Amino acid sequence: MLHVLHVVGARPNFPKVAPIMRAMARRPAAFRQTLVHTGQHYDQRLSDVFFQDLALPQPDIYLGVGSGTHAQQTARIMLAFEEVLLHARPDLVIVVGDVNSTLACALVCAKLGVRLAHVEAGLRSFDRTMPEEINRVVTDQLADLLFTPSPDADANLLREGIAPERIHRVGNVMIDSLLQALPLAAQRPILAQLALQPRTYGLVTLHRPANVDDPAVLQPLLTALEQIGRDLPLIFPVHPRTRQRLADLPPLPAGLRLIEPLGYLDFLQLTRQARLVLTDSGGLQEESSVLGVPCLTLRSTTERPITVTHGTNRVVGTQPDAILAAAAEVLSRPLPAPARIPGWDGHAAERVVEALLRISA
Ligand code: UD1
Repeated sequence: MLHVLHVVGARPNFPKVAPIMRAMARRPAAFRQTLVHTGQHYDQRLSDVFFQDLALPQPDIYLGVGSGTHAQQTARIMLAFEEVLLHARPDLVIVVGDVNSTLACALVCAKLGVRLAHVEAGLRSFDRTMPEEINRVVTDQLADLLFTPSPDADANLLREGIAPERIHRVGNVMIDSLLQALPLAAQRPILAQLALQPRTYGLVTLHRPANVDDPAVLQPLLTALEQIGRDLPLIFPVHPRTRQRLADLPPLPAGLRLIEPLGYLDFLQLTRQARLVLTDSGGLQEESSVLGVPCLTLRSTTERPITVTHGTNRVVGTQPDAILAAAAEVLSRPLPAPARIPGWDGHAAERVVEALLRISA
């Protein structure tokens, strides 16, 4: 029996871990599981609701590290996680994605010589000013097993000198969660609650520090969104980081409707019925592609190029003119077909588990 310790910390981690835990729970003779929540995200709306929506078991261990600077947050997670690891002594730790919790726990595993698997390995934006890019590069160097979602990720890892036998392309575990949750999401009354009709609104998310922390970037972005909002009402669930920055700016115009962050199922329902998504999120580029909703990524790079080549995504940057031109073009065309990407099929977590069973046999 393999004792696996899963780490979650921030919102995007939850839909990645849920299907892996479920796949392992189907093999109780093969796996014992421990779930550690670092507490990087702690608000009900960024954390608790995801446990309900994704039917994640409650964490066995909650570290409660909270917010802070990068060094503070990473260091606090490392200190607390080292204690956990010394006590729990798992056979394998699984970290997902690219948040500070991912990196911090990966470092602790490497120093204590605990086997480490990274799920969603190999993504690269090639922009090291993004905190997530540092987390991705370092975590991948430290991991013993690298589970990748797409061929570009394999190529990035090989280029960085990772031995091919450590790389396992399994597909996209987050899409496992999406496909499993679609029927439940379809029952959510969120559109009616917001008085929206399908395909008559756009969905906005913005939370990258590069976009929201500097008013000289954020203000023109909002101006562009406001202009799009004159023709297509925009719904904007606001991340706490962004909420803090908006407080320093003049009041927002009417075409942009701000709401509180949503749970997984409500957000999925709002995404699948949208006419257009405008975002700086990573995961949403993937989700909108699979759902066949056009996505404009308000950044100059993406670590998920397959959503551009095989999906509905366009990387349009942060200049208002470019965003407006892209939005007008997308809205003049019929909706694109949902992306069919190999391995983004609802069975990625199953492939993670099969690979682990093979390797540990
Ligand atoms: C983090 C991740 C980012 C991910 C995002 C998803 C890192 C480096 N960044 O960014 O990759 O896309 O989560 O949401 O790991 N706050 C709250 N309540 C919370 C958590 C945070 O109000 O539950 C506020 C705090 O004021 C905090 C700020 O949000 O200072 C930012 O939180 P933090 O976890 O540092 O980074 P995110 O911007 O959430």
